[in-house]
Amino acid sequence: MNFNKNFNDVADSYLFAEVASRVAAFSRTHTDKKIIKLGIGDVTLPLVPEVIKAMHAGVEDMSKQETFKGYGPYEGYAFLRESIQSYYKESGVNLGLSEIFVSDGAKSDLGNILDIFSADNTVLVPDPVYPVYVDTNLMAGRKILFADATEENGFLPMPDYSLDVDLIYICSPNNPTGAAYTKAQLKEWVDFANAKHAVILYDAAYECFVSDGNLARSIFQIEGARTCAIEFCSFSKIAGFTGTRCGYTVVPEELEKDGFNANKAWLRRQSTKFNGVPYIVQKGAAAVFTKQGMREIKQNLAYYMDNAKLIADCMDDLGIWYTGGKNSPYIWLKCPRNMGSWEFFDYLLNNAQVVGTPGAGFGKCGEGYFRLTAFGSREGTEEAVARIKKLLK
Ligand code: MLT
Repeated sequence: MNFNKNFNDVADSYLFAEVASRVAAFSRTHTDKKIIKLGIGDVTLPLVPEVIKAMHAGVEDMSKQETFKGYGPYEGYAFLRESIQSYYKESGVNLGLSEIFVSDGAKSDLGNILDIFSADNTVLVPDPVYPVYVDTNLMAGRKILFADATEENGFLPMPDYSLDVDLIYICSPNNPTGAAYTKAQLKEWVDFANAKHAVILYDAAYECFVSDGNLARSIFQIEGARTCAIEFCSFSKIAGFTGTRCGYTVVPEELEKDGFNANKAWLRRQSTKFNGVPYIVQKGAAAVFTKQGMREIKQNLAYYMDNAKLIADCMDDLGIWYTGGKNSPYIWLKCPRNMGSWEFFDYLLNNAQVVGTPGAGFGKCGEGYFRLTAFGSREGTEEAVARIKKLLK
């Protein structure tokens, strides 16, 4: 027996687990201090009434012989896939129902999708970025190249034709930097991927925060994407499902090479290793895209974006450089006084009891930067902003 030695190449703990354990250690020795957590991008508002109503109806269905559900379809119930299909239609994207796969979240699918790709593929990952992309590929032993995202390129690296890559990760609006590609920029990535016979793994978890019409909400708004992209999305950020768990992945029928069809392979993978999302959760998820559901959801999104503005205004006041906070719930700031990311993390925790996420945890280019999330409560965000101002003025 041999263990998977690739695990020796990943950091000892997952970034957000590391942050949580440092915060827990601090609170054990400072029991009198009230800590405000603006670290992990976890939501604070409850599920909207329309979603709760649909989930209650789902519970009722499970209580009656005529409507009880056992195992559901591996790819998700048609009623939910149809509502996802109509949501895409609003952005001008036509998807076949068989191209939509419901799952327990984008994070799982972003890792699981690697099952359908060869271990000898070379991967291109922006730096800094959501650590799941790097960690899952390290675990599988893939070669990883990095596309540096810096202040100079607006944290939006563009294709480099000198690189030979097979899998390309793009997250837009980006986690952690909040930077978002325009449709024209994404067209360059799509052309690059098609030219290289590569696949873009497009993380659209934050699409619901896009308000600027020049920015894409889906990679499938870009001509040519159906032959080179898979898209991952989530109900966590749009509808507060972080603890409820539901997401979806779009695998176009046209994505194939040498007779291998990605859509068929993904269905085969899911039906072998996954038994679907609970019916009650899918009922709730479908309610997100109804007229009333969307009205309620939009109020929650506006609440978070008002938090983002509070944080952004605070940075403006302090003269601290930042990106994000406009088409994204994250504010990506330059650590003041030339502090390193973890140094600033400790400084803020010790002196203001505010928790953020150190940029260095998202990649080497994140060193010297720091991420604050707008998903906190209004009260917590206001208090955090007041404490940060007091500390850094
Ligand atoms: C984050 O804070 O980056 C996200 O909440 C992590 C996630 O969505 O898994």
